[in-house]
Amino acid sequence: MTRLPDFRLETHLSRWEFTARHHLTASDMQTMTLSELLTLADDEDREAFGALSLGYTDTFGDPALREAVAGMYENAEADDVVCFAGAEEGLYLAMNVLLGADDHAVVVTPNYQSAETVPLALCEVTGVALDERHDWALDLDRVAAALRPNTRVVSVNFPHNPTGKVIPAADFAALTRMCDERGIRLFSDEVYRGLERDPARALPQAADLSERALSLNVTSKSLGMPGLRVGWIVCRDRELRSRLERAKHYTSICNAAPSEVLARIAIKARRSILERNRALIAEQLPLFDAFFADFPELFEWRAPDGGCVAFPRYRGADGVEEFCARLVAEAGVLLLPASVYRSELTATPDDRFRIGFGRRGAEEALREFGDWLRRRG
Ligand SMILES: Cc1ncc(COP(=O)(O)O)c(C=O)c1O
Repeated sequence: MTRLPDFRLETHLSRWEFTARHHLTASDMQTMTLSELLTLADDEDREAFGALSLGYTDTFGDPALREAVAGMYENAEADDVVCFAGAEEGLYLAMNVLLGADDHAVVVTPNYQSAETVPLALCEVTGVALDERHDWALDLDRVAAALRPNTRVVSVNFPHNPTGKVIPAADFAALTRMCDERGIRLFSDEVYRGLERDPARALPQAADLSERALSLNVTSKSLGMPGLRVGWIVCRDRELRSRLERAKHYTSICNAAPSEVLARIAIKARRSILERNRALIAEQLPLFDAFFADFPELFEWRAPDGGCVAFPRYRGADGVEEFCARLVAEAGVLLLPASVYRSELTATPDDRFRIGFGRRGAEEALREFGDWLRRRG
């Protein structure tokens, strides 16, 4: 196995996620209990959960789960779905299947670190930075300029972690066409889809637009169930799906059987879960607007287009790294400083931090955050 660098975000979270009093940087929505989820199930699925046998399951993913996943797409059937242990396994294996030493990939920066480090461990990679001065726009001319004859993958993620950017649908369609015309795979990480502030801005799913593109998704983020560890890739290219499934023989082999049934229940109930989650965001975001309005000299804040994280600027003289370190140590409020999002490929901001607003309890966390800021003067 290739040697990969430390995953800075996960390393930071493994130190603080379960010890900080307020996890104010979570990238997943408020979760629910097993019994709450089971109340959303129809009788058949609830009985299936109780009667489940705990053997291995289908390596592509349980057929009924894949059927439910396919129902989320316009142009996909159950056969077009391959399930993974979370989005992370899907991302990791897809890059390993798609990229070899003589290939080249293009990724957007800043990024969820493995979007960059997994391809970098395999081949040459060019970063295309979202434009911080223009509301994190993606310049398609710069993507086009980054392409080489041996480019095999263009990897994007909208709504974007950590900025929440959602590009215009026309740009996404143009990007898909650009990739298709050159035989490049568009790898589209869509794990925050469904959490757009304006639902009309939800992008089409790449696998619906293109027969070659890969759409990555998971129950973790918009549905708030990362503990299920059920992710999937939808792709209408049968040969590629078969390669993905064979790669999985070396990692998880198959998903956890109970999780597959629970994920199926969650996906079938997704409309009501998403409605609840969007309502929570709509309730909590004004608290963040009000909080940042109280400290205009310290922060530059703008509510993002989608997802449940944002990437505001910190203007304090101490710098964002020290600020985040002291905030968690002294007030128990966890944020992610800019260094976690540093890229090897392009310059990335060094004065921002990730903050999350998808979990309940933001009011208390912001109160303690504000009290601490006032105390330290
Ligand atoms: C953009 C993005 N892709 C993939 C993942 C991995 O998701 P999971 O934890 O469900 O494997 C994350 C998790 O934070 C993410 O933010």
